[in-house]
Amino acid sequence: MTVLMHTLHLELGERSYPIYIGRELLADAALLSRHLAGRQVAIISNETVAPLFGDKLRSALPEMDLVTDIVLPDGEQYKTMETLGHIYDRLLAEGHNRSTTIIALGGGVVGDVAGFAAASYQRGVNFIQVPTTLLSQVDSSVGGKTAVNHSLGKNMIGAFYQPAAVFIDIDTLHSLPPRELSAGLAEVIKYGLIGDEPFYRWLHDHISQLRALEEGPLAEAIERSCSNKARVVAEDEREAGLRALLNFGHTFGHAIETAQGYGNWLHGEAVAAGMALATRLSVSHCGLPESELAPLEELLSAAGLPTRAPEDMSAAQFLELMQRDKKVVDGRLRLILLDAIGAARVVDDVSAEALQALLS
Ligand SMILES: NC(=O)c1ccc[n+]([C@@H]2O[C@H](COP(=O)([O-])OP(=O)(O)OC[C@H]3O[C@@H](n4cnc5c(N)ncnc54)[C@H](O)[C@@H]3O)[C@@H](O)[C@H]2O)c1
Ligand SMILES: [Zn+2]
Repeated sequence: MTVLMHTLHLELGERSYPIYIGRELLADAALLSRHLAGRQVAIISNETVAPLFGDKLRSALPEMDLVTDIVLPDGEQYKTMETLGHIYDRLLAEGHNRSTTIIALGGGVVGDVAGFAAASYQRGVNFIQVPTTLLSQVDSSVGGKTAVNHSLGKNMIGAFYQPAAVFIDIDTLHSLPPRELSAGLAEVIKYGLIGDEPFYRWLHDHISQLRALEEGPLAEAIERSCSNKARVVAEDEREAGLRALLNFGHTFGHAIETAQGYGNWLHGEAVAAGMALATRLSVSHCGLPESELAPLEELLSAAGLPTRAPEDMSAAQFLELMQRDKKVVDGRLRLILLDAIGAARVVDDVSAEALQALLS
């Protein structure tokens, strides 16, 4: 049975939209109908997720003139312009017009590709996100960043394009591999660290319930994460300032992902180790109490996440990869650090020696 547990609103003037969180929302025909534009729908999913939830979503659609299922191969390596080309081919061949609705059913990869397809097909069509990984539920489906990868860089081709609604059905998480769930928890913990101390303390008390997918705490953690993200995006949609704080732990994390090869460490795992490093640096650079380090590492471990960078990464390798990251502005490395739990800021004056000491 459908149960709507929370409704949030991302406030962006005429582009504002609701984020629904609950159980069996995939099957909520009335709620879904409210956000369809015309009588055409294309559901974009992948070969893992479509068999799990495709039928349920399809049967919640009202009578349509045209419903197209586009099933992508599974994996980050398919988040490409070639995949995008196949999507446009199908949409055009089947006669989708400007009043069609694209629904993304899947994790962040599907959401990012489908979102960019929606942003660009016939100069932009109605778009609905139905995220099915914890990471996509608390992060990628909210905020309107859409993209595909280019051989020369991740997420290099894309657009800011907000959905008309986000449907977060927590029941979808039951089939998610535990490692993917943990990776999503890294981003959940991030919201507490950068801007919500009470939530961070709450997470310490509820982490095992979250891993066990207890519905009350799970819906609560997703709601708190999305409302933190929505607040930041509402203030700084295009990342002129505040939104950069969402990259906490990510500059270190991206270096780890690159060094290990994409897929060996999941993004959330690399971010977890990155957050531990950034928090450690916050002690020496920003006066964060050292007593915060051990509880953070305990929380990350309890979430099933690493707390240390890979053994085989040297300080020199880190520094080189971090210099290449897009967060370097005018030659200065910009990092997000914490003055306190829940109080992050951008710094660009960490010395090479301090980084060397941190990473050795
Ligand atoms: N747009 C943004 O703001 C933003 C933010 C963060 C990340 N991202 C992007 O998101 C992507 C990562 O997203 P992700 O972590 O969701 O990875 P993903 O989309 O690759 O999903 C992880 C795996 O879980 C499978 N899966 C999805 N839902 C499932 C379910 N309910 N049950 C069983 N299996 C399921 C997927 O098929 C895949 O194999 C990256 O491409 C990243 O760049 C975008
Ligand atoms: Zn991230």
